[in-house]
Amino acid sequence: MRIKKAVIPVAGLGTRLLPATKTVPKELLPIVDIPAIQYVVQEAVDSGLTEMIFVTGRGKDSIEDHFDEAPELEQVLEQRGQKELVEQLRTISKMVEIVSVRQKQPLGLGHAVLCARDLIGDEPFAVLLSDDLIDAPVPCVRQLLNVFEAEGESVLALRRVPKPEVRRYGIIQGQVLSDRVYQVEAMVEKPEPQDAPSELAIVGRYILHPEIFSCLEKVPPGRGGEIQLTDGIAELARRRKVYAYEFSGVHYDVGDKLGFVRATIAYALKRADLRDQLKKYLATAMSEG
Ligand code: G1P
Repeated sequence: MRIKKAVIPVAGLGTRLLPATKTVPKELLPIVDIPAIQYVVQEAVDSGLTEMIFVTGRGKDSIEDHFDEAPELEQVLEQRGQKELVEQLRTISKMVEIVSVRQKQPLGLGHAVLCARDLIGDEPFAVLLSDDLIDAPVPCVRQLLNVFEAEGESVLALRRVPKPEVRRYGIIQGQVLSDRVYQVEAMVEKPEPQDAPSELAIVGRYILHPEIFSCLEKVPPGRGGEIQLTDGIAELARRRKVYAYEFSGVHYDVGDKLGFVRATIAYALKRADLRDQLKKYLATAMSEG
């Protein structure tokens, strides 16, 4: 079965990046000159997904506006002869179909995914978290879909992290099946390093079987009093197979200050118009710092 739909939760408050996120949704903060959410939508599109479901919250309308047409702005740019910019803006509004659903209360990531239930129906779907940017030659979601297409069951994106960092992620306990592929036996959300079953962390990309919804309905509030997606998937893994895949690519957590700065530098270094000058600047800054 071909997967078409992606759920992208965008209701989070962005507290780690306050005060920047007081009035600007964290998803629209730019990495160089492209909002974080656009990289994530691009990854979904490049992976072959065609319908994005944003799970939004109050104050987040401008995220949808970013993917809408902007006729007044385009007209002004056209009058000024800035054709390339007009084309860029049009490409964004034509990228993909977007529908949205509100998460009225911040009850957790699992609850956010549950809000998309009626829009998904009874088919497998992808989830992409916009705090996680993944720079990879083959888009990360495409890598997961390749495993899904072979196995027909849920697949989670996995990354090995240093032990002290396990407390920032959902961590799996699992069996290695083949190169990079694991079968998930259990999962725990943000454990203390001494309690973690492994150092294999879930990064924000998932392919989920629709049975996840009945699991999420059932799980009690977990860490932080929130309905955790991790707990829902742990329940799913008790009912049917769940796989995890150690993807290839570089991961940036742009919901975190240091991760945000790292991503900004890394993505700027990939840009032909910025690379040389930035390299010179970084060398000088390093020798002075
Ligand atoms: C969420 C998930 C966590 C996962 C992480 C990946 O946490 O709850 O399991 O490892 O995303 O970025 P958050 O970072 O939203 O607190």
